[in-house]
Amino acid sequence: MSASLLDIRHVSKTFNSHSLNRSAKFLAVDNVTFSIEKGESVALLGASGSGKSTLIRLLCGLEKIDSDQGSIIVNGRSFYNGKNYSPDIRNIRKTIGVVFQQFNLVGQLDVITNVLMGCLSNKSALDIMLKRFTEAERVAALECLDKVGLGPQAYQRASTLSGGQQQRVAVARALLKGSELLLADEPVASLDPTSAKKVMDVLFGLTKDLGMTLLVSLHQISIAQTYCHRALGMRKGRLIYDGLASDLSAQRLENLYGADAEEIITDTYLTSPRPVEQFSTLIDA
Ligand SMILES: Nc1ncnc2c1ncn2[C@@H]1O[C@H](COP(=O)(O)OP(=O)(O)OP(=O)(O)O)[C@@H](O)[C@H]1O
Ligand SMILES: [Mg+2]
Repeated sequence: MSASLLDIRHVSKTFNSHSLNRSAKFLAVDNVTFSIEKGESVALLGASGSGKSTLIRLLCGLEKIDSDQGSIIVNGRSFYNGKNYSPDIRNIRKTIGVVFQQFNLVGQLDVITNVLMGCLSNKSALDIMLKRFTEAERVAALECLDKVGLGPQAYQRASTLSGGQQQRVAVARALLKGSELLLADEPVASLDPTSAKKVMDVLFGLTKDLGMTLLVSLHQISIAQTYCHRALGMRKGRLIYDGLASDLSAQRLENLYGADAEEIITDTYLTSPRPVEQFSTLIDA
């Protein structure tokens, strides 16, 4: 039994790629091990194609790890029982909220219905289409919308919201679900700087207030350093950095991003990283 909220050990993911006359294997996540304590906010960094989204999909059970090796344990409960998902996997998934870059909302439905759907396993698709929710469920959803600053938009169609507002709906949905672990895959990549800041403030403020644990993949180092005390860095599927976000020196960023490092370093999306406490060991120290 692990004391960490998230504990992953020796996790790999291989994809089969098929071309015209031959098939090949591609290792997208390569023997990754790390753990995250309850209440931590951790940035997941790495160049395009380094395996960030694949790792996040493994951590929310949307992809299966390569069999016979590795483990994913959330709050002491294991995803896998040998090669197969544990019989408890549905309950474990309920404790994990996911926010994606694409907003994943149903545009024709109002905001509150979008928050309620997907959180209530006792509802059928018909219940959702006909908006058959109890008063208590509606009140709980409204409270979550209030927390992300969207109370007034509750009965507006989701398609009429701005990108930043839609992303906050996704956060409200994770809140209603009661998620202990929140995974966010580039939640602000499609947003302008002002909307991005609002979403990040909500995401980090709430996870801190509610004691949730956050793993967020980001392309902007400055955002990672502003909000996260710790960063994980991936390159070609491998975890090559685990340490303070503020310790990401030019040399370490070059190790992570190769030729694109300069563009990443000069990014001024958000300013003045805040001071962070000492943490962890550096894999590449
Ligand atoms: N279903 C799949 N089948 C085959 N290859 C895949 C699949 N999913 C991802 N890959 C490959 O795995 C590698 C890692 O992809 P992934 O999407 O995890 O990268 P990423 O770090 O999230 O990149 P980005 O920053 O561009 O979002 C890529 O080379 C990608 O083409
Ligand atoms: Mg990705």
